Amino acid sequence: MVGVSHILLALAAVTSAAPSASSGSTCKKVQHDFPKGTNKNDPRAEAVKQAYAREWHEYSKYAFPNDELLPLTHNYTDDLFGWGASVVDGIDTAIIMGLTDVVEQQLKHIASVDFTKSPDIVNFFDINIRYLGGLLSAYDLIKSGRFPNPYDEKLVEALLSQAKSLATAISPVFDTASGLPASTMNLSTGEIMKSTTAVNGTKYNSTNTAQAGTMILEYYRLSDLTGDESFRKNAQKAEKYLINPQPAPAFPGLVGTELNTETGKFITLDGGWEAGVDSFIEYLIKTYIYDPEDDMVEQLKDFWILTVESSKENIALSPYKRPELTFLSQLDENGTIMWSMDDYACFAGGNLLLGGAYLDRPDISELGVKVTDSCHWLYNTTVTGLGPSTIAWYNEHNRAYDKSYNKNATLRSYAAKYGYFIEDPSYRSYPEPLESIWYAYRITGDTRWQDYNWEIFQALNTTRSKSVPYAEITDVNAPYGGDLVNYVSSFYFAEVLKYLYLTFTEPDVVSLDDFVFNTECHPVLKKKAC
Ligand SMILES: *[C@@H]1O[C@H](CO)[C@@H](O)[C@H](O)[C@H]1NC(C)=O
Ligand SMILES: *[C@@H]1O[C@H](CO)[C@@H](O)[C@H](O)[C@H]1NC(C)=O
Ligand SMILES: *[C@@H]1O[C@H](CO)[C@@H](O)[C@H](O)[C@H]1NC(C)=O
Ligand SMILES: *[C@@H]1O[C@H](CO)[C@@H](O)[C@H](O)[C@H]1NC(C)=O
Ligand SMILES: *[C@@H]1O[C@H](CO)[C@@H](O)[C@H](O)[C@H]1NC(C)=O
Ligand SMILES: *[C@@H]1O[C@H](CO)[C@@H](O)[C@H](O)[C@H]1NC(C)=O
Ligand SMILES: *[C@@H]1O[C@H](CO)[C@@H](O)[C@H](O)[C@H]1NC(C)=O
Ligand SMILES: *[C@@H]1O[C@H](CO)[C@@H](O)[C@H](O)[C@H]1NC(C)=O
Repeated sequence: MVGVSHILLALAAVTSAAPSASSGSTCKKVQHDFPKGTNKNDPRAEAVKQAYAREWHEYSKYAFPNDELLPLTHNYTDDLFGWGASVVDGIDTAIIMGLTDVVEQQLKHIASVDFTKSPDIVNFFDINIRYLGGLLSAYDLIKSGRFPNPYDEKLVEALLSQAKSLATAISPVFDTASGLPASTMNLSTGEIMKSTTAVNGTKYNSTNTAQAGTMILEYYRLSDLTGDESFRKNAQKAEKYLINPQPAPAFPGLVGTELNTETGKFITLDGGWEAGVDSFIEYLIKTYIYDPEDDMVEQLKDFWILTVESSKENIALSPYKRPELTFLSQLDENGTIMWSMDDYACFAGGNLLLGGAYLDRPDISELGVKVTDSCHWLYNTTVTGLGPSTIAWYNEHNRAYDKSYNKNATLRSYAAKYGYFIEDPSYRSYPEPLESIWYAYRITGDTRWQDYNWEIFQALNTTRSKSVPYAEITDVNAPYGGDLVNYVSSFYFAEVLKYLYLTFTEPDVVSLDDFVFNTECHPVLKKKAC
């Protein structure tokens, strides 16, 4: 393994030394050149908008202004610090859809919240991706002048002042020995709550890679909009540990999930594109696209290329005798390939397509298409048309990571039919395949991707027969999804409905040439738009 790592590092050094096609150009276009009038008045966009209006109505009736709707019991839960997560996460989607009455209600609520107080211990990651992302995106979209804006100017300005006040209130998380942000804190005392991970019998104060490496895009935007550089500096300091990983990961660029917040060192080797690492990789290339002239982003882009090339070499794998499928495997805590993948990793297809287009790397785009097609396959081959939380497969020697799977006749026959088998059959409103399919559509212009997202939207609607459409379900292979889950995640408003809507609306609505999306599907304007 060590020998392989050195060869790959050498290759990566050669690649990153080559001049990038986009350096110097701040206006590199990535979207397909669509003919004028494409998707004009497409009824599928209207159907998605109706789905938002319907679900917002339910949320307003039973849950506003609490965090999330419990659709089966007509109640709510405040599991995201009690500030109205569905409002802040969902406002930019309503802005894009032109639902101005809904947006007015949302703006009024947001201006009234005290984001410096919470009855609960708050989580840094959710604050960044849902709340900060939602506030900055709503601000940028309204200020861009591209959407209807009948709103009170004071309420619009409050979006930015609330973002700054929230980011300032949470900033004590960076007061660790290393500068890596702690994952949780008590807002009223500023006290960091240490989370710990035990490795080889020793407990470490820890955070994970996604937590430490996901705020950089939001913080760059916040610093650029407010002129306060402290946000950018904190993000850069944390990011340095991630792109200079110590000790070396199992494969170059494929860093593990857990870090010691005292030393900045990695304590596990469980790399891949799955939960815990995912949006760290995602933001390497997105921050570069956000501001290609920034001092640090060249290093981020180079690390992204290293991660991608190493993924191709080591973990982009086809199941036994199924060369048409390509999955990205996760690694276990010791860096061993597991021949399994979670739904979260399905974001990779879109991220590879975006980076491949921006950097003029058709080989990377090709991997993006393969991964997106394989994730679509996971949806296309179930009873409900929705995809499972986790899958696994038999490797090139027809063996699984978990030895008990090798003799399991049920799994063997499922894999013989479909190439993979299901480890966790639940579907929790996952946006990632919709996301990658949307990127594939906007970047290639091929309408087959629109067809796929429409099929998934129709599949989401099949639970209507149980009187709650678009519900989360426990089993993608049971009729109507098995049991319904009593929960509407705020990212149903933020991500699921936004990626769907943008798939069917005109391609210049939130163009990828002008906006960069955070990991919760909140678009912010590029520092210099095209
Ligand atoms: C609704 O949820 C609240 C907060 O959890 C709880 O106090 C209340 O009892 C619930 N109401 C019903 C009817 O379940
Ligand atoms: C935050 O700290 C204060 C003061 O110690 C304490 O009263 C409060 O319960 C803490 N909040 C939470 C959610 O634990
Ligand atoms: C973890 O954090 C706690 C609280 O700040 C501290 O007392 C402890 O020494 C830290 N542990 C290590 C191993 O550094
Ligand atoms: C845990 O033990 C393994 C095997 O000895 C070693 O390779 C690894 O570095 C250890 N991890 C930590 C965080 O000490
Ligand atoms: C990782 O290695 C350690 C030390 O050799 C071992 O105790 C542990 O079981 C391994 N973990 C897995 C998932 O194989
Ligand atoms: C699978 O894809 C085909 C072709 O796009 C489509 O006709 C079919 O309805 C899909 N099946 C499911 C379950 O989504
Ligand atoms: C085979 O796998 C299925 C699905 O995970 C499981 O329900 C079943 O118990 C397994 N069968 C055996 C014999 O282990
Ligand atoms: C959802 O299902 C209902 C009932 O079957 C149907 O009337 C409606 O047209 C469906 N919506 C979409 C967008 O397919």
